[in-house]
Amino acid sequence: MKKAIRGRVLSYRDNPFTKPLSACLEYEEDGLIVMEGEHITEFGPADILMDGRNDLSITHYPDALICPGFIDVHVHYPQVEIIGAYGTQLIDWLNKYTFVAEQKFSDKSYALQAAKLFLKESLRAGTTTSSVFCTVDPTSVDAFFEMSAKLNMRNIAGKVLMDRNAPPALLDTPQSGYDQTKDLIDRWHGKGRALYSVTPRFAPTSSPEQMEMTGAVWNEHPGTYLQSHISENLAEITWVRDLFPDQESYVDVYRHYGQLGPRAIYGHGVHFTDNDFRIFSETGTALAHCPTSNLFLGSGLFNIATAMTGAHTVRTGLATDLGGGTNFSQLVSMNEAYKIAQLAGVSLGAHQAFYLATRGAAEALYLEDTIGSIAAGYEADITVLDLQATPLLKHRLDFAESLEDILFVLMMLGDDRVTRATYVAGELVYSKNCETGVATFAEF
Ligand code: GUN
Ligand code: ZN
Repeated sequence: MKKAIRGRVLSYRDNPFTKPLSACLEYEEDGLIVMEGEHITEFGPADILMDGRNDLSITHYPDALICPGFIDVHVHYPQVEIIGAYGTQLIDWLNKYTFVAEQKFSDKSYALQAAKLFLKESLRAGTTTSSVFCTVDPTSVDAFFEMSAKLNMRNIAGKVLMDRNAPPALLDTPQSGYDQTKDLIDRWHGKGRALYSVTPRFAPTSSPEQMEMTGAVWNEHPGTYLQSHISENLAEITWVRDLFPDQESYVDVYRHYGQLGPRAIYGHGVHFTDNDFRIFSETGTALAHCPTSNLFLGSGLFNIATAMTGAHTVRTGLATDLGGGTNFSQLVSMNEAYKIAQLAGVSLGAHQAFYLATRGAAEALYLEDTIGSIAAGYEADITVLDLQATPLLKHRLDFAESLEDILFVLMMLGDDRVTRATYVAGELVYSKNCETGVATFAEF
């Protein structure tokens, strides 16, 4: 028997920021998704696909919205224990909280526990792929990928590279960072669904020598990712100007060291100039929009309209940036992204917001032919959202008049309580009983 799920299905095949919705939206009021092994093999109207068949084992989700698993394009798994740490902005927050927490991850059993909790909370939030910062210690990367492999998740991760401006216990050197990165790429990149990301934390914590070797190791391994931070906070930008006086701008630092291009993803870009957007656009470099983090750390207001519809469009995905960010749920990221856009006089549409957490995020990762959509041939990473998850949601949705209304209410009122089921590579790995509220995870 082939596994299938039935219900209201939402997906995107193109970008609703630049194309009419009719060219982007895939929506079936009563749809059927058939899965074989790790993949979706059929998707279409249930009545047509089910007609005359007896080879399907169907799970029906009434009162639900089935969508591609959410994708989080920038997040730090070792920072889960400092979510919601009070009172500081970026640089002080790093020194006071982040660098303290990250020192614990040279202990393998500690790192395994933390990775497990992180992955469980991701699945509870309906997130099936993340681009993850580990710590400077390779142990933290092994722990993360070992846990991720148990669930057969398509996750991207890497060892942080950092050889200055952090506590000694968190520093590598240009050579050890290079060697450890190479070793981890050999061990993990392309193993099962794992993908490796070369991970310079950000320019202030790498010497020019390390920046050089970071660009080199990434360029020596085509197909790997690179992730970092850029233009998040004004004090950070001033610091970069002081540390790299020969470069014209923050973006120019990364360009100079060969760290821009397809499969490079930078968190934030809150204070980007038109020229910064131009360089990212021309090089195919992606941005991670991290709304809950930008608000929590008081970093500033990212301009989603400029990124998606300006003169120089940039592949941009939505991200939590935990633990600077404050919630695992990409519905909450959408909520805060909407409010940030409102403050710039821009109305972020519900379809646009859902796109940013699914297909748009996959485009930022250059994985749009693999994940982020529901269609035959795609990997079967799927999230089922319960439209009656809370009394308020159920009541409010009684007054929704369109699909767009339903999506917008979900992003305003929803969070991980809304996740009814999460499928990874065709397997049900998380589910919540609607009557009892009891959550069940696959063994891992
Ligand atoms: N910039 C450098 N490191 C970090 C980090 O861990 N979190 C955030 N939000 N910004 C950073
Ligand atoms: Zn970050």
